[in-house]
Amino acid sequence: MTSPVRLALLGCGTVGSDVVRLLHEQSADLAARIGAPLEIAGIAVRRLGRDRGDLPVDPALFTTDALGLIKRDDVDVVVEVVGGIEPARSWLVEALRAGKSVVTANKALLAEDGATLHDAAAEGGADLYYEASVAGAIPLLRPLRESLHGDRINQVTGIVNGTTNFILSAMDATGAGFAEALEEATELGYAEADPTADVEGFDAAAKAAILASLAFHTRVTAADVHREGITEVSAADVASAKAMGCTIKLLCIATRGADAAGRETVSVRVHPAMIPLTHPLASVGDAFNAVFVEAEAAGQLMFYGRGAGGAPTASAVLGDVVAVARNRLAGVHAASESAYADLPVRPMGEALTRYHISLDVADRPGVLEAVAGVFARHEVSIATVRQAPAGAGPGAELVIVTHVAPDAALAATVRQLRGLDIVRSVTSVLRVEGGA
Ligand code: NDP
Ligand code: HSE
Repeated sequence: MTSPVRLALLGCGTVGSDVVRLLHEQSADLAARIGAPLEIAGIAVRRLGRDRGDLPVDPALFTTDALGLIKRDDVDVVVEVVGGIEPARSWLVEALRAGKSVVTANKALLAEDGATLHDAAAEGGADLYYEASVAGAIPLLRPLRESLHGDRINQVTGIVNGTTNFILSAMDATGAGFAEALEEATELGYAEADPTADVEGFDAAAKAAILASLAFHTRVTAADVHREGITEVSAADVASAKAMGCTIKLLCIATRGADAAGRETVSVRVHPAMIPLTHPLASVGDAFNAVFVEAEAAGQLMFYGRGAGGAPTASAVLGDVVAVARNRLAGVHAASESAYADLPVRPMGEALTRYHISLDVADRPGVLEAVAGVFARHEVSIATVRQAPAGAGPGAELVIVTHVAPDAALAATVRQLRGLDIVRSVTSVLRVEGGA
């Protein structure tokens, strides 16, 4: 057998420790698949004294000098599972420019400044693989960047954050409010102590940027993604969705389309939305992820599985390690980033969507006409209207679902409705996706 492929592992937390375990448990199989054994040259961590349980690795391999480890001549592949922008970016640029293969799970860095990493990979003639950065164990980026390269992808719709899917699924199943469901998610270890990145949609927005870039051969960064989290989703919204035969999911939606001048553009957004129970994404419960891809020739494809957790994410990391190790032995590297399309990103106001709006209104003649007039003024067409007695008092509840319209027109309609004296309150506003 040929000489070993030597890895520098940066980070040994939730994901890194499972990378170590799997490397140990599957060493013979991995060596047979690659044609050379994999060896850990060193493991960079922040705290040398941290208790790492019964990790099957020589303690002498640990170091706090990540850069020194990367620069060592006997390191072929750098596996980064630390996270964050710096120092991860500097480390990976250093490795790639030196021609070392990089495998990373760092969605935040790829979404904020993937271009710098791709440029460094091109400069160094090195591999940059990042399957684990979106939807954990689910093989998704490789299909987008390789298997579907002969096709034209028009839309990617996904549930790409496990924590928020757990919370919304719990709200749907028990009628609990957001705070109560978040508490359960924290107790069960799904939500982190600071859940902001998940519940405010930052994590999903980073993944949306990576997916859109790959699907449409363009560069989309996290800053290009319209982002809304789930903190405002109420038990009343969930009940309204149920009444319509829908459920609420935090969706990432990346769409190719044309602007008013006919120029091809992309629109990338993350927000909660109602989807019909018949939609394939509606049955994705618990902390699972799923991504629905619509391509011109392939039609509809669905990818489903565990989007987080040490072992599932380590599975994706190791798949990449095998790929880059094989490439090194063959003396090749994968084709560099394909961003030739260079598509402009459309503002959220131009995204086409539908709204579900619940209003608490005065119950008297002319109210329906006044409300309908606001929709008409903004050229928003109403699809259905349902009126029910209000829960308390003399008013009525109006539930209106629109046809598809630009988001800006829908938002302006809601703003004007809030100003009508016959509207006592706008109790729920949610987008509707997936053809309900
Ligand atoms: P953890 O916080 O569990 O682990 C981070 C590791 O990085 C720790 O070992 C820590 O050292 C080390 N580290 C932190 N700062 C430094 C530093 N300055 N120098 C050297 N080492 C450092 O993170 P995760 O394992 O959960 O996540 C790692 C990456 O994987 C992130 O990019 C994350 O977004 C991504 N990811 C995570 C998933 C998950 O389910 N956890 C799923 C998909 C992707 P020490 O052990 O000493 O504290
Ligand atoms: N916090 C993320 C989630 C981890 O809940 O999906 C995986 O990226």
